[in-house]
Amino acid sequence: QAFFSPITGVAPPSPTTRHTKITVVGVGNVGMAIAQTILTQDLADELALVDAKEDKLRGEMLDLQHAAAFLPRTKIRASLDYSVTANSDLCIVTAGARQNPGESRLNLLQRNVSLFRHIVPPLAKYSPGSIILVVSNPVDVLTYVAWRLSGFPPNRVIGSGTNLDSSRFRFLIADHLDVNAQEVQAYIVGEHGDSSVALWSSISVGGVPILSFLQRQQISYEKHTLDNIHKEVVQSAYEVISLKGYTSWAIGYSVANLARTILRDQRRIHPVSVLAKGFHGIDGGDVFISLPAQLGRSGVLGVTNVHLTEEEAQQLRNSAKTILELQSQLGI
Ligand code: NAD
Ligand code: LAC
Repeated sequence: QAFFSPITGVAPPSPTTRHTKITVVGVGNVGMAIAQTILTQDLADELALVDAKEDKLRGEMLDLQHAAAFLPRTKIRASLDYSVTANSDLCIVTAGARQNPGESRLNLLQRNVSLFRHIVPPLAKYSPGSIILVVSNPVDVLTYVAWRLSGFPPNRVIGSGTNLDSSRFRFLIADHLDVNAQEVQAYIVGEHGDSSVALWSSISVGGVPILSFLQRQQISYEKHTLDNIHKEVVQSAYEVISLKGYTSWAIGYSVANLARTILRDQRRIHPVSVLAKGFHGIDGGDVFISLPAQLGRSGVLGVTNVHLTEEEAQQLRNSAKTILELQSQLGI
């Protein structure tokens, strides 16, 4: 006998047609922070987890499954075998080495490129229509690597980029002005890392450009105050890593925020790593770095024509050059 009896005269319910599947590769600190934020925010019907460590993977899967009674319904599966990822809408890659205290993200490159050769081709094979979202560091170069290894069009390969740096920036500005960070529009662009660029010229709070806002409030500011806020953004990850060993919660929320915009076709603008050749005078090759981009169900819909001062544009080109120099050593 079936568990449920149909109501007389009513056709049995048909399965829902919209089925959203997200894969997370790498169930370390970052992958799990992303997975749990995705679950609590009800962003997927199915979540597939992949890692290279079998016991850790099964342990994390069970631990999440055991929260089922407190969460929106999501089917959680995990395997070393990439067939578990088949037909994903979004594949998030967090696998790989992370920085030791004081170590630069760029130092991780060779180790993580080798892993990507084993991760990206099977993701592309099992989910040829998906969007790949790269989080592993150095995220900009690895987004380029994922683009090349996947064979996907550039609009479907995105790096989490400076979405996180921009959140740190907004937090610090909001703290400085004692306003809600969600009221602060501010972008960090360029490399997710040491050569990132703060777009002071386009910051606004509640629609008011920040510099005139500060003047109106008669808050004296000096350029070095602003520079110090940017330096604090760049130092943020180093500080957290030296204190707790890794960063996780902010990147978890940052990536879930991107997943929501993409999968729900929200067409919001996020600073993320995209193919930036041709923008703001960036030349010299295919390079992925962060620019404010409109995202939706088909990935990157476009890059906003944000105004950059000549100094900011030059800093952005320098940031792109740093990434291109690294890429040229890869042979990909
Ligand atoms: P972690 O060591 O906790 O986890 C890494 C996981 O990757 C481990 O579970 C490991 O088993 C797995 N892994 C290794 N090789 C694999 C392979 N071939 N296939 C599948 N899984 C594999 O590290 P973490 O703290 O979670 O950081 C992960 C990455 O994310 C690092 O590169 C880190 O620098 C990066 N990160 C990026 C951002 C960002 O803003 N882009 C923020 C934080 C961390
Ligand atoms: C971050 C990582 C380490 O938290 O890239 O910025």
